[in-house]
Amino acid sequence: MTDPLTDLQVPIVQAPMAGGPSIPALAVAVARAGGLGMLAAGYKTAQAMAEEIRVVAAHTDRFGVNLFVPEQDPSDPANLAAYAQALAPLAAELGIPAPAVGEYTDDDYPAKLDHLVAHPVPLVSFTFGLPSAADVARLRKAGSAVVLNATTAREVTAAAELAPDAIVVQGTEAGGHRATHGQAAEPEDITTTALLTAACELTGIPLVAAGGVASRDAAADLLRRGARAVQVGTLFLTAQETGTKPAHREALLSADGGETVVTRAFSGRAARALRNRFTDRMAGAQVKGYPQVHYMTAPLRAASKDDAQGLNLWAGTGFAACRATTAEDVVAQFRGFSAK
Ligand SMILES: Cc1cc2nc3c(=O)[nH]c(=O)nc-3n(C[C@H](O)[C@H](O)[C@H](O)COP(=O)(O)O)c2cc1C
Repeated sequence: MTDPLTDLQVPIVQAPMAGGPSIPALAVAVARAGGLGMLAAGYKTAQAMAEEIRVVAAHTDRFGVNLFVPEQDPSDPANLAAYAQALAPLAAELGIPAPAVGEYTDDDYPAKLDHLVAHPVPLVSFTFGLPSAADVARLRKAGSAVVLNATTAREVTAAAELAPDAIVVQGTEAGGHRATHGQAAEPEDITTTALLTAACELTGIPLVAAGGVASRDAAADLLRRGARAVQVGTLFLTAQETGTKPAHREALLSADGGETVVTRAFSGRAARALRNRFTDRMAGAQVKGYPQVHYMTAPLRAASKDDAQGLNLWAGTGFAACRATTAEDVVAQFRGFSAK
């Protein structure tokens, strides 16, 4: 297999977006339009991941799979218990039982890795931390390109030590979770441009710039500064082929005058979302507890159904550029850059 990042027709990686938005149809549409499609394995079983791979691989070999590295920093049980109490009034308002403290899970990570080694895909990327050197070696031996995420200069250096095929440098503008290596660290407020510039000084490994890329000009600037490609998430959330919940989609399309906040309230890990009633009410709660908090808020989010005010409306700072369009149209905005 050739590294799909080296022969992209359009230098755009569709961000893997776990929790519903990333579905096979999106990855296939992006690949067909000339970008790199990504599947998000996070929150899924290894079997569900395998099924999605089967669907996409029937159409294209220009795709990759993204895994959540199991959380390395333990959650504090007292902090989780306090947060369960803080959530109780919201649960009562929704007419559901108060949430119990969530369980730790490894997100079926070992089984997913074993599957990807046995049934290789063109590219595997990792977020929330770094895989072991042994796991990187297993994937590369199987023929997959390996891509790591970094959100600070220090994380770029740590990622580069594993000699991956590329590093995604994710700046503070990014929608959804910060890829911070370990939940204990407070995410740095470094922009995508600044992080890319720092990373170019630190390593010659190809870099993919992620966070707030919402226009052709923004992409052109990052490519000129040395990025191999840009990774775009938020703009795809309102594309037809995406599995985004209707309430999330509508909130993005009608969010004029709205703003994003970085919050741990939904999952225990820092993530950027549209500010809403939930983020405001939980703003004072000092919670830090991934993945347990994700499972504690899941019933509240499910009970909120179509009420966007109770949902995790992941969004990057460029959300105002979201349009009800197709994935092909999103990719087309980034056509015509000369290949590096
Ligand atoms: C809804 C949503 C879900 C995301 N889920 C993942 C994920 O599963 N894995 C991952 O590596 N990054 C995930 N991200 C972050 C993206 O990879 C990327 O860094 C970000 O979308 C780029 O910023 P932008 O949203 O401003 O384009 C997610 C982003 C969003 C908006």
